[in-house]
Amino acid sequence: MSWRRVSLKLIGYSATATVVVSSIAYKYGQRNCSINIPQGDSFPNGSTTRLTDLKPPKYCSDVSKFIPELKNCGIQIVNSKPEIEHHTGNDFTTHKPLANEVPEYVAYPKTTEEVSQLLKICNREKIPVVPFSGGSSLEGHFHSTRPGSIVVDTSKMNKILAINENDLDVVVQAGVNWQQLNSALQPYELFFGTDCGPQGLISGMIGTNASGINASRYGAMSANVISITAVLADGTIVKTRQRPRKSSAGYNLTNLFIGSEGTLAIVTEAVCKVYPKPRSETVVVVQFPSILEATKTVARVFRVGIQPSAIELLDGDMMHCLNYSGYITRPWLELPTVFFKIGGINDVVVKENVSVLEEITKENQAKSFTFAENKQEQEELFSARKNAFYAMINWGKNEIDEDVRIWVTDIAVPLSRLSSVLHEINKMIKASKFRSIILAHAGDGNFHADIFYKENEKVQVEALVDQMIKLGLRNEGTATGEHGIGNAKRRFLELELGNDTINMMRKIKVSLDPNRILNPDKIFKIDPNDKGEY
Ligand SMILES: Cc1cc2nc3c(=O)[nH]c(=O)nc-3n(C[C@H](O)[C@H](O)[C@H](O)COP(=O)(O)OP(=O)(O)OC[C@H]3O[C@@H](n4cnc5c(N)ncnc54)[C@H](O)[C@@H]3O)c2cc1C
Ligand SMILES: *[C@@H]1O[C@H](CO)[C@@H](O)[C@H](O)[C@H]1NC(C)=O
Ligand SMILES: *[C@@H]1O[C@H](CO)[C@@H](O)[C@H](O)[C@H]1NC(C)=O
Ligand SMILES: *[C@@H]1O[C@H](CO)[C@@H](O)[C@H](O)[C@H]1NC(C)=O
Ligand SMILES: *[C@@H]1O[C@H](CO)[C@@H](O)[C@H](O)[C@H]1NC(C)=O
Ligand SMILES: *[C@@H]1O[C@H](CO)[C@@H](O)[C@H](O)[C@H]1NC(C)=O
Ligand SMILES: *[C@@H]1O[C@H](CO)[C@@H](O)[C@H](O)[C@H]1NC(C)=O
Ligand SMILES: *[C@@H]1O[C@H](CO)[C@@H](O)[C@H](O)[C@H]1NC(C)=O
Ligand SMILES: *[C@@H]1O[C@H](CO)[C@@H](O)[C@H](O)[C@H]1NC(C)=O
Repeated sequence: MSWRRVSLKLIGYSATATVVVSSIAYKYGQRNCSINIPQGDSFPNGSTTRLTDLKPPKYCSDVSKFIPELKNCGIQIVNSKPEIEHHTGNDFTTHKPLANEVPEYVAYPKTTEEVSQLLKICNREKIPVVPFSGGSSLEGHFHSTRPGSIVVDTSKMNKILAINENDLDVVVQAGVNWQQLNSALQPYELFFGTDCGPQGLISGMIGTNASGINASRYGAMSANVISITAVLADGTIVKTRQRPRKSSAGYNLTNLFIGSEGTLAIVTEAVCKVYPKPRSETVVVVQFPSILEATKTVARVFRVGIQPSAIELLDGDMMHCLNYSGYITRPWLELPTVFFKIGGINDVVVKENVSVLEEITKENQAKSFTFAENKQEQEELFSARKNAFYAMINWGKNEIDEDVRIWVTDIAVPLSRLSSVLHEINKMIKASKFRSIILAHAGDGNFHADIFYKENEKVQVEALVDQMIKLGLRNEGTATGEHGIGNAKRRFLELELGNDTINMMRKIKVSLDPNRILNPDKIFKIDPNDKGEY
């Protein structure tokens, strides 16, 4: 049943409505935007807010009434079928929205002021608002879990406002894509240190604290954002800092917004750090007899003071997918392989690093050691890593099923635990009926053990993933090194941090967004009636 039909029935508060409500995953409680039912006490005397301290949120039951007022503010609002579909979910993730989790409208603000106007009205009327930028997040981050939601898409705010070459920073609007930013920085021989999925935009990357291939040297978003301009739930516009890199000016609100997944504010602008491109760079590819030697090498490399800008580990299965799909130009062995990017101020320094690296890999029984002699070879070598995602999909479609699905995990553990955890995970998967690949941002102890499965195997694959994540947590790790919690990993957050820490997050949430309109149900529960498992 499409959500539109359901919401029309709800306006009348008919008996049908009750039936519909109880047949979906949530028990939303009654909705009536014209009356003001007292909220739960958001400010009890404790330092934390337990789920049981809250009453169920009440949301507006007829958002269409307020669309003319929003349009009057100059905000572009659409609800065509393709627009609604584009903002409902994406094809990359296993976590599909429920049939009723469909937004009612999509808003495209063009300025911070428009976002402020929009939130003032939505907060007044208790309209759920789901921030959205590139739509490439992987854990159900932007699913419209509440009926009558408006998705606020900041992708049209995509101007680069300033490139402060000598300060090594840029001022950008929320909707700037990281690759678009890198193109604009090219003439200055600068680049932005964080990468993620190709579609990711600055605000979405702030939302998930994104980090990719370059993170081992340049850090995650948290290391690369200096200041954020954001609009709070009630429409208040805040800027977290001025532009200096160093500051002790009160709470670090920049950091509070990073990784907050659109639950605290809508980001409209940011000041980000950029870096000079390394003058000299090379790519080194090393193959090892087993994962153990590969991870031992990685730990050793850091210990001797080499700081590669990328250290990507691909296991034998992943190398097989690449070979199978014809995405590699050299006859690599189908063995665990590490791709290193080594940069420095000149060729001499880089060569020195490479020769030290070669020694370390020899000590660890490397089967082959290849480094790029020139720019073209660098690209050729690294292209194998860049094509990994497509190679695994291609292999799965041909060898498992045309409709194969891939369950993506992103566990991270302290570096010293990486070897043993990967070894155990490998054993777990091999003992199951599933095939997998492992692809690690090894320098960060962060790995993707991605499992191929068919739709009818969802329960079994979920049980396996559960086991894997719990192993990561027992090793002082995290359920998510880079993708975030969304609504798909909430129960792991509970295991990882415990309820007191989550209750503190919830306290911050309800104090900044007392009506709970901003991206409801993400990261942790905000409704005592939420029975949702996704
Ligand atoms: C092929 C592929 C590869 C990927 N590789 C990586 C990787 O290497 N590293 C990595 O970290 N991730 C990776 N990802 C995941 C994804 O790219 C990141 O999570 C990225 O940060 C999402 O950015 P986005 O613009 O698409 O955000 P969206 O998906 O639109 O949103 C992400 C979150 O931010 C919130 N949000 C969006 N806009 C705003 C705003 N203006 N204000 C406040 N909140 C907002 C949303 O509500 C949501 O919770 C990959 C994804 C794909 C599909
Ligand atoms: C909903 O609001 C209308 C208008 O104020 C009111 O007449 C009606 O009683 C309310 N319904 C409920 C269930 O409270
Ligand atoms: C808050 O106050 C109530 C009574 O006013 C008391 O019962 C409760 O224990 C207090 N809670 C905390 C955390 O102090
Ligand atoms: C990572 O950093 C290097 C500089 O070392 C840069 O050339 C490259 O484009 C960056 N991004 C990715 C995705 O590797
Ligand atoms: C505050 O947080 C941001 C984002 O995580 C970070 O870049 C910055 O270094 C932190 N510290 C200060 C003093 O701003
Ligand atoms: C962001 O990620 C980095 C590296 O993964 C981590 O050190 C940092 O604590 C994270 N910050 C937030 C705010 O989640
Ligand atoms: C790579 O794939 C080709 C073609 O499928 C195969 O002939 C070859 O043996 C594979 N290489 C290795 C090292 O397994
Ligand atoms: C690697 O290069 C850096 C400069 O980029 C240098 O400081 C460092 O000493 C080198 N490390 C080794 C082990 O040669
Ligand atoms: C944590 O809180 C949840 C409710 O969000 C509850 O179901 C669970 O039992 C709590 N866990 C512990 C250990 O108290």
